[in-house]
Amino acid sequence: MKYSFISYGSSNITPGATADYDLFTRDGRVAVTKGEPLSPSIAGLLRSHSLFRLCADLSVQTDVYRNTRLFASADYLAAELAVEEALHSLERHEGIDLLVLQRHDPYTFRHSLNVGRLSYLIGKYFSLPDSALEQIVLGALLHDIGKLTIPTDLLKKSGRLLPEEYALIKTHPINGFFKLQEVDLPAEVTRIVQQHHERWNGQGYPLGLQGEQIHPYAQIVGIADVFDALTSARSYRPAIPPYHALEIIIKLRDRDFSANIVSHLLGAVTLYPPNCLIHLNTGELGKVVSCDKQFPTRPRVLVKPESQSDKPLVLDLQHDTEHFIQVIEYTGERSLKILIVDDEEECANALADAIAPAGHQCRIFCSPAQALNQYNVIWPDLVITDVRMPQLDGLTLLKKIRDIDINARVVLNTGYGDMITVIEAINAGAYGFFLKPVEIPEVMKLLQKAQADLDSLHSRQIIKEALLDENKQLKQQLDQLTAAM
Ligand SMILES: [Fe+2]
Repeated sequence: MKYSFISYGSSNITPGATADYDLFTRDGRVAVTKGEPLSPSIAGLLRSHSLFRLCADLSVQTDVYRNTRLFASADYLAAELAVEEALHSLERHEGIDLLVLQRHDPYTFRHSLNVGRLSYLIGKYFSLPDSALEQIVLGALLHDIGKLTIPTDLLKKSGRLLPEEYALIKTHPINGFFKLQEVDLPAEVTRIVQQHHERWNGQGYPLGLQGEQIHPYAQIVGIADVFDALTSARSYRPAIPPYHALEIIIKLRDRDFSANIVSHLLGAVTLYPPNCLIHLNTGELGKVVSCDKQFPTRPRVLVKPESQSDKPLVLDLQHDTEHFIQVIEYTGERSLKILIVDDEEECANALADAIAPAGHQCRIFCSPAQALNQYNVIWPDLVITDVRMPQLDGLTLLKKIRDIDINARVVLNTGYGDMITVIEAINAGAYGFFLKPVEIPEVMKLLQKAQADLDSLHSRQIIKEALLDENKQLKQQLDQLTAAM
């Protein structure tokens, strides 16, 4: 994914109106956030500056947290496990069914999972005990449960909300709170649901609480909620890259959020992992060397020399305000989330052990039905499945997964005797296949291909066409192979 700045003409600034974009100064800092009123004095000030707005290439829909490697992969995996455990614990409670929320508004469901993961990571940065983290994740998963009472059309509305519509949306924290009174949950969890829209300065809702009156867990979920909402694409605006989402949140420090909570969010994320490629406003290409946790938007950058005789230059953007990052490219070295499905646990473990040193995260499922059940929650980059399994064979699993996610990458791990199945699988959109016994270099090659596909800046359509083309070639190879058998 690529983000870049484009110039925003000062003639578009109308005193008395509200900002129609997040606007940035030449040094990449947020000057005004979207929706902020432009008083005559602010408008005058802005007109005297060159302003920019953000333009993102959103043709490839991505999972912002994993693709940008905002978190160390081990931390992120722990957060995902915590969310899965919380989902399981919710299954025990009658009267709460998050799948109903998923059907009602899929965005809110996926957002709730993200807020759960993010809240866990912020809570972890606070060094909170596991019992507190469990309550925070539960509260995060349920924070928008009150939206079940809001009509779907209103939740998806892309235009400006009418005052009465906004008033209805604002009832969701209190609706959720009352709904959960019927369920046996810790009071901290229901407080999170009730208070996640309260703001540090008392300007939030529904109670207008301020400062420390807001439960600390609700403060964590509240900031995670805003961060995830900003970095997600919505019907009424594109996703904002995490770098700028953080800048916006920093601007809300001591207003919507306490300085302490903002500093913990900053501590929990790594916006610029080492070796991440960037383009500076000067047109120079650079690589991130390191980044101070408390200044995550201002890394130290190694600038590529123009000629071989030039010495490489390291810029510290914390002190160098002339330079700022204009384009961010997250390429290569991205860890994959892989789901391995095999009824023989030993085989699955051996494959996971072989893959793990490359930094990929593997989840093993010996039951294909369970893997299918969890697909929507884990949302892996790649599935590697055995073909012959009791209950559900690899081909049926592939088809069922692709019913959920048409772009799923499913690789079959198979014996020679399953060739006919493999041909059918390729026709059904399989990403590839391995013959048993698995050759690890072959697996690594396919993983590199998956990484390259995920990092590709081409549109989803181009990727799809390329895959279809490759599938055709693969099918031809298979036809030749089977003819020779
Ligand atoms: Fe909410």
